[in-house]
Amino acid sequence: MTAVRAPIDPPPYFRRHVFCCTNQRPAGHPLGCCAEKGSVKLRDYMKARAKAIGLKDVRINSAGCLDRCEHGPSVLIYPEGIWYTARTEADVDEILEAHVKNGGRVERLLMPAETALAKRKKINI
Ligand code: FES
Repeated sequence: MTAVRAPIDPPPYFRRHVFCCTNQRPAGHPLGCCAEKGSVKLRDYMKARAKAIGLKDVRINSAGCLDRCEHGPSVLIYPEGIWYTARTEADVDEILEAHVKNGGRVERLLMPAETALAKRKKINI
């Protein structure tokens, strides 16, 4: 899916907006959650690193469940709408440097292409 901007749209408020799922579910929940995979610490690390490397025109936000739990810890970057799995601080560093700062991609961390509809069909919901 490609974002389409209308001529009347104001310019984006942030150059890049990063959403880090920090959703927590009870232990043993069949969907699991990003929080149990360390996403809160990774979000905190991402915020601190973004500031440390001078990314003033981007925003790192916490998010509730982004509905890609099985691939988490989930990170979603707009305006591109690119999804990553960030498991380690090294992953976060690479995403910040390559994508958020320089507009590239970190291919090894991209989530697999799968629509929400396909996922729901697969798990029968
Ligand atoms: S719990 Fe993180 S995407 Fe669902």
